[in-house]
Amino acid sequence: MDSFVITGGQKLSGSIAVSGSKNSALPILAVSLMTSERCTFKNIPTLRDIQTQVKILNTLGVETHWKGREIETRVKDTYNSTAPYELVKQMRAGVCVLGPLLAARGEATVSLPGGCVIGERPIDLHLRGMQALGAEITLEKGYVQAKAPKGGLKGTEIYLGGKFGSSVLATDNVMCAAVLAKGTTIIECAACEPEVVDLANCLIAMGAKIEGAGSPRITIHGVKKLKGATWTVIPDRIETATFLLAGAITRSPITVTGGRADHLLAVIDVMRQMGVGIQRKGHAMTVVPCARPKACEVTTLPYPAFPTDVQSQTMALMAVSEGTSILTERIYPDRFMAAAELKRMGATITASNGQAVIQGVERLGGAQVMASDLRASAALVIAGLAAEGETHISRVYHIDRGYERIEERLRKLGARIQRINDGDEAEPATAAAKA
Ligand code: EPU
Repeated sequence: MDSFVITGGQKLSGSIAVSGSKNSALPILAVSLMTSERCTFKNIPTLRDIQTQVKILNTLGVETHWKGREIETRVKDTYNSTAPYELVKQMRAGVCVLGPLLAARGEATVSLPGGCVIGERPIDLHLRGMQALGAEITLEKGYVQAKAPKGGLKGTEIYLGGKFGSSVLATDNVMCAAVLAKGTTIIECAACEPEVVDLANCLIAMGAKIEGAGSPRITIHGVKKLKGATWTVIPDRIETATFLLAGAITRSPITVTGGRADHLLAVIDVMRQMGVGIQRKGHAMTVVPCARPKACEVTTLPYPAFPTDVQSQTMALMAVSEGTSILTERIYPDRFMAAAELKRMGATITASNGQAVIQGVERLGGAQVMASDLRASAALVIAGLAAEGETHISRVYHIDRGYERIEERLRKLGARIQRINDGDEAEPATAAAKA
């Protein structure tokens, strides 16, 4: 298994480019199931999760050609409509083939994703949405079986809010299913994340009729079929935020290029409250660091509020800020895996009942730590860059799921970070490997 060895305390300089959005690319690749024509998807990041999604699509009869950052797809046969456990257990987002499959083939069998290290993560809202469109849903042997009625799916009004608010992938799934349903569907309490808008725009380029994506009410007028299209996915806002926070924690004026500041206003606002400026020029954002950031109170909520996927990295910055910070997690109340590892590096954090209290210390010290999920791993990397001495992060396969060759890119900024292979132990494809 690979580990990172980081010698902290180096000032970073220069610029780093942002990759395409993982969380946009995953559902967008799944819409290739919805047309018999060729699609070309651009700005696709080279990540483990994308590889897993491509494998799922191949199993479902989609032929794929991957050239650099471009993936070309075409449905070769419609024989198999089962997304197997072996693949969906590796990546929960595999569930986003449910809506496209049901829309295109009238049936879908998708493994239930199971538990996840960042929380329970049920899919009741996805199923509720499919049922509202008329699908019959059965759960058997760990699989969801969805079947459209004889006359096909039918548009309707669907309230898609759950106890934690809107759901990104449930909105995606229901929107895809409704695109080929008869009549009009209105999704109320739809997720407003930029990735939902990107998916809607891609579907529109394929001939779908969708209004209101990016707002809590999405209206979809069903069409008979979709055509192929070429689509470029948006830049990854979580990766952008991670790099900005890397600049803030190392107190380095690095420039992050190719990101979208308008997708990150909540993060930029929190950084400003902590004393870290972000200078915007076109698609470039330059960190204006301060001597020592100030403590802050942050609550994660659905977009456009502060994203849960940036919570762990923000905790790392709070760990070295002046004063006591409070982080409240309203999407995944148990998502505080970074806390225990940051404590090994000298942070003072208590986390319970969806809230972490972080008493800032002057500096962190290098230690041996373990990556546990994608974003917690990113937090450990940026903490390691700022810590005094050497940090050894094991199980970095978690970070490879969502960040492309992060160590090579950070090295170009002057970071001292190396990937080492410290044994032949296989990377476990367990529940802990998902997010
Ligand atoms: N929820 C339900 N029922 C459902 C679906 C969700 O109760 O049927 C709950 C979840 O348990 C959670 C909340 O609703 O408490 C929001 O979850 P959501 O469904 O929006 O999450 P998701 O769509 O499964 C995507 C991202 C996650 C990101 C969340 C929240 C992808 C592939 N994944 O997941 O990304 O944290 O939205 O923004 O888009 C990551 O990239 O590290 C990651 C975990």
